[in-house]
Amino acid sequence: MMMAFSKIPQSLSFTRPRPRPTASSLSTAETQSPCLGHSTRPNFPILHQEINGSKLVYLDNAATSQKPTAVLNALHDYYEAYNSNVHRGVHFLSAKATDAYELARKKVATFINASDSREIVFTRNATEAINLVAYSWGLTNLKSGDEVVLTIAEHHSNVVPWQIVAQKTGAVLKFVSLTDDEVPDVEALRELLSKNTKLVVLHHVSNMLASVLPIEDIVLWAHDVGAKVLVDACQSVPHMVVDVQSLNTDFLVASSHKMCGPTGIGFLYGKSELLAAMPPFLGGGEMIADVFLDHSTYAEPPSRFEAGTPAIGEAVGLGAAIDYLSGIGMQKIHEYEVELANYLYGSLREVPNVRIYGPAPSETVTRAALCCFNVEDIHPTDIATILDQQHGVAIRSGHHCAQPLHRYLGINASARASLYFYNTKHDVDEFINALKDTISFFSSFK
Ligand SMILES: Cc1ncc(COP(=O)(O)O)c(C=O)c1O
Repeated sequence: MMMAFSKIPQSLSFTRPRPRPTASSLSTAETQSPCLGHSTRPNFPILHQEINGSKLVYLDNAATSQKPTAVLNALHDYYEAYNSNVHRGVHFLSAKATDAYELARKKVATFINASDSREIVFTRNATEAINLVAYSWGLTNLKSGDEVVLTIAEHHSNVVPWQIVAQKTGAVLKFVSLTDDEVPDVEALRELLSKNTKLVVLHHVSNMLASVLPIEDIVLWAHDVGAKVLVDACQSVPHMVVDVQSLNTDFLVASSHKMCGPTGIGFLYGKSELLAAMPPFLGGGEMIADVFLDHSTYAEPPSRFEAGTPAIGEAVGLGAAIDYLSGIGMQKIHEYEVELANYLYGSLREVPNVRIYGPAPSETVTRAALCCFNVEDIHPTDIATILDQQHGVAIRSGHHCAQPLHRYLGINASARASLYFYNTKHDVDEFINALKDTISFFSSFK
């Protein structure tokens, strides 16, 4: 059933008062000592507001994260005190903006342990970073009959660029599906690899299944057959320690807006020797060495791939986000999120008629702090609408840019609750109570 209303009619509204948190309604862990969620929430002004008369519970972090005051201040300072174009001017403001922009690049490099900041290319987002590799490396290195191995759980931004490149080059895309536990089948992936495989492109953490892939192993197997690896780290870099040298991946991409930074900026990590051999993706100012009327020569990476005026303020904001995350510690963030992930999964599993996608957490299986789910006979968009309008709980519904995976699972859409370190077990309790109310609301129409 899909009741696609934009606003719930007043006659259908809940009048039931929302339970206020009391010491006894807080989870045991939260009454003992303040958790990371409680200690960091004050840093996020946006979380302290009411939506439709209820306290906001923001559980749409896999789509985008909120920004701490430190990032808002960094953006404000940049525009108020030293806004200027980079790399072009000799004046004070331009030099200061250039230093800040290049410092942000160094911060990204340190954050993911790249050996040189020149291995970091700023892009608009992860999608653009994948397109950069597809158009530059892909069109140059792939030819008819070459194989690119992917999983069916890739985000559209890690599928469509490769389809375009395959159409242009005659390369073949080979997709790995899921095991019975609903994780991408890593053994099947290993068997697919051959001397024809030129590239393996895959996510680190799934934005729908919450599963985590063993990238280090996969990179070893891919390199064994001479293939390169691109890791979509959109859902891992914000949540755990990611070390490109120990993963030994060739390319890795992520977006700033999912890791407490501004929208409009993301990055590509590429091994120096690969970037050095790649042609430009976009042409224009900043990416050239010399321009003649009939031809141009190009700058060294990363400038070669940063045509035009970059997102300077956004880079500064991303740098501030990295300082903020590093100040907390990525290992601490990860450990807290694993606890939240288990609590979310365990609580949601107890709700009748709910189907959660992806593997069950166990001693050996760590899930990310998100759950994609469906409730029998209720459309996920109806659930998300009531949660928002009646309870102030923000979740996402739809295909989460993973239509092939939804099709494989036999569904068109799902609901997704996704957490970050500023969420608490109490947020999960609020979500579960609101979901139970929503289910009884719809059940009353049956
Ligand atoms: C796993 C994954 N890959 C790629 C993307 C694309 O990120 P962006 O839209 O910031 O380019 C997302 C965003 O939801 C994602 O979750």
